[in-house]
Amino acid sequence: MDFVLSQKQLRLREQFRRLAESLEPAGREYPRANLQRLAREGCLGLPVPREWGGRGEDFVSYILLLEEVSRVCASTGVILAVHTSVGTFPLLYYGSPEQKERYLSGLARGEKIGAFALTEAQAGSDAGALRTTATPVEGGYRLNGAKLFITSGGEADLYTVFATVAPEMGKKGITAFLVEKGTPGLFPGPPEKKMGLHGSATTELLFDDLYLPHSQRLGAEGEGFAIAMSLLDGGRIGIAAQALGIAGAAVEATLRCLDLSRAGQGARFVMADLAARLEAARLLVYRAAWRKELGKPCSREAAMAKTFATDLAMEATTSCLDLWGLEGTVESCPVQRYFCDAKVTQIYEGTNQIQRLVIARELLRAH
Ligand code: CAA
Repeated sequence: MDFVLSQKQLRLREQFRRLAESLEPAGREYPRANLQRLAREGCLGLPVPREWGGRGEDFVSYILLLEEVSRVCASTGVILAVHTSVGTFPLLYYGSPEQKERYLSGLARGEKIGAFALTEAQAGSDAGALRTTATPVEGGYRLNGAKLFITSGGEADLYTVFATVAPEMGKKGITAFLVEKGTPGLFPGPPEKKMGLHGSATTELLFDDLYLPHSQRLGAEGEGFAIAMSLLDGGRIGIAAQALGIAGAAVEATLRCLDLSRAGQGARFVMADLAARLEAARLLVYRAAWRKELGKPCSREAAMAKTFATDLAMEATTSCLDLWGLEGTVESCPVQRYFCDAKVTQIYEGTNQIQRLVIARELLRAH
């Protein structure tokens, strides 16, 4: 068995660490300067082929980048993750030559930010129950409906939106569309006031009779659900990497402040367990990324990595906060930020209950 990062990946990880450490943790503002810095380094299109304006690195390297960025700023991490895995890959994997020509290089160079609009009020975990309609009209479609909790809502330049062209057909009617910022009929709501990830804008998106020509449909009618699911496999590995970054930052900050040589046995055991579980999470996440890079099926591995790493992020930030005590709860202490940022990683890109469902289905299929 040979399962180690290559020399190049190790070098890139060093580069990413230096780059991430030059970023500012976002406050309550959208971290525009961080995104511009990442764009200048080609990091908003890291795994996109060079012919499309990206850096052409492998998916494992992209995961290392997400981990390092999230270790410093998890808000920037989620914007990067959504922009790449479910904002840019839709074009790369499913775009027509004209759509690629029009959008892909801009996204890969970070001149444009991509986002993903699937979730609705009654269709979070049950994504197939979405109700946004794309009614066929002459020359294209008219979109009506509302999406919720959209990362980079209002900030993104391009949304991959899922809507049904035939509500009576259930999942088989779901179709993907490309909607540009500023399209008449597109109304982003105000940013939600969240418990964490304050720098990342999360909004509602309303579609009011929004007209799209056929050229804005991504893939064929009815292919949208499978497109969303396949993109989410990669997206979940990205969120797992974000969780690794958050957990790692909490453990490091705690080790820096806690003198382990003088700490009691209880604290030593807590830190030893966290260190071991962090290593285990890394192996799961990197393995899932490696399978994706090789084009192997990775739904099960992505779901396992997402569940394990995000549960660990919550456990690590909770235990570290306990060790910090009251000092950890004040706003100037980064550990309370890690704690508040960690929770949503268990929930978005498919809750961990949904991940367990995906894993269990794969187990049933295999046995
Ligand atoms: N790749 C490709 N196709 C897939 C697939 C995958 N990983 N998973 C399913 N499909 C296809 C199936 O093959 C099936 O096609 P056929 O009918 O032709 O056989 C079709 O999709 C339907 O699949 P299921 O029957 O498995 O669908 P389901 O309704 O039972 O639901 C689910 C599956 C796993 C519960 C799904 O609804 C799900 O993943 N829910 C969670 C949604 C989610 O993750 N939302 C995240 C929003 S994005 C976000 O959070 C971003 C952010 O802000 C950070």
